[in-house]
Amino acid sequence: MVQERPVDRDDVLHTPICDRLGIEYPIFGFSHSMEVTAEISKAGGFGVYGATRDRPEAIVKRLANIRSMIGGRPFGVDLLLPLGMQNKNDWAAAEAQLPEAHKAFVKHLKEKYQVPDPTGKSFFSSIVRSNEFFQEQVQAVLESDVNLFASAIGTPPDIIEKVKAAGMTTLSLIGAPKHIKYAKAAGIDLIVAQGYDAGGHTGPIGTMSLVPQIVDAAGEVPVLAAGGIANGRQMVASLALGAQGVWLGTVWLATEEHRLSGKLLAKILKAGSADTLISRCHSGKPARMIRTAWSDEWEAEGAPKPLKMPYQQVLIGDLLTSIMEHEVEPLLYEGAGQGVAYCNELTTVRRVIERLVDESREALKIFR
Ligand SMILES: Cc1cc2nc3c(=O)[nH]c(=O)nc-3n(C[C@H](O)[C@H](O)[C@H](O)COP(=O)(O)O)c2cc1C
Repeated sequence: MVQERPVDRDDVLHTPICDRLGIEYPIFGFSHSMEVTAEISKAGGFGVYGATRDRPEAIVKRLANIRSMIGGRPFGVDLLLPLGMQNKNDWAAAEAQLPEAHKAFVKHLKEKYQVPDPTGKSFFSSIVRSNEFFQEQVQAVLESDVNLFASAIGTPPDIIEKVKAAGMTTLSLIGAPKHIKYAKAAGIDLIVAQGYDAGGHTGPIGTMSLVPQIVDAAGEVPVLAAGGIANGRQMVASLALGAQGVWLGTVWLATEEHRLSGKLLAKILKAGSADTLISRCHSGKPARMIRTAWSDEWEAEGAPKPLKMPYQQVLIGDLLTSIMEHEVEPLLYEGAGQGVAYCNELTTVRRVIERLVDESREALKIFR
């Protein structure tokens, strides 16, 4: 049984979104790990499971698994829903679009770094990000009892309408003020203003500049700040910018619950802010990641420009699967934001949340 704790409603950190969603702290955590997601919700925050790389049947099982770990506490699920993808999840049709020069470059990388063949298929080597696949993923979400649905890179109104009708809270991640009209038109309940500093797909505007602009444009819709946030001073600053809470992704990579492979974890623990870069070499859309030989190769003079989403992942799918499976050290990478500078030791999800809260209380003393 999860223990209920008393809530202090006079606490500055207990913002209106806490009461609205039934959480103790306005700390939202995105993760591709079920354990991390569950632990965030158990520690008083709001865990959101990233299901973009899951087949529908896995989504059903994993959301049920998270529910079994957290009992009645709230949690969310996140899908990437970019517009302009091909309609069908048709690997052969997507593969037929790949230019020969790009295929030759990937073959060259495989040989140069002596990457063995993968022993099986992964999401990256078998699924085309496509409208058909997104609809199946959404259907799986609708079969669950998850409390919140987050969409990123796009806010398709038809999908938002369906999840709202199912009674879920809806959230949209946006990276520019011009995106807000789509979120509002779709009737989104909660907005994440995610700045340039963030890990994963990101836009060109820094968190400090973006958050107040989105807060002003959002009106009644509550905003969470994201991008580079990894300590309490940044959390208090986010509240001062008008956000009702924070949304973090990178910090969870260095937790025991995440169980990142040893070689990847070592890169995260060692990296400073300047060891990340934004590149299209992962998915075809700009995403911030740890700089490695993988990104260097794609950024090098003479390298082909990464293909657009979804073709870049169809192009690199087998190689990426193998790099991850065999932990090919020079090429091994992960999405990470500039806040990676604060990931210096392996910790636990609960300790991260306690640290954020303690540091925030300390930072708040300057207002007395
Ligand atoms: C490894 C990694 C994977 C991510 N994948 C997704 C994703 O699938 N969907 C999504 O909405 N955001 C994704 N993000 C972005 C996070 O939701 C979040 O906005 C971001 O991590 C916040 O900035 P921070 O990394 O500086 O904390 C990812 C972030 C990281 C670090």
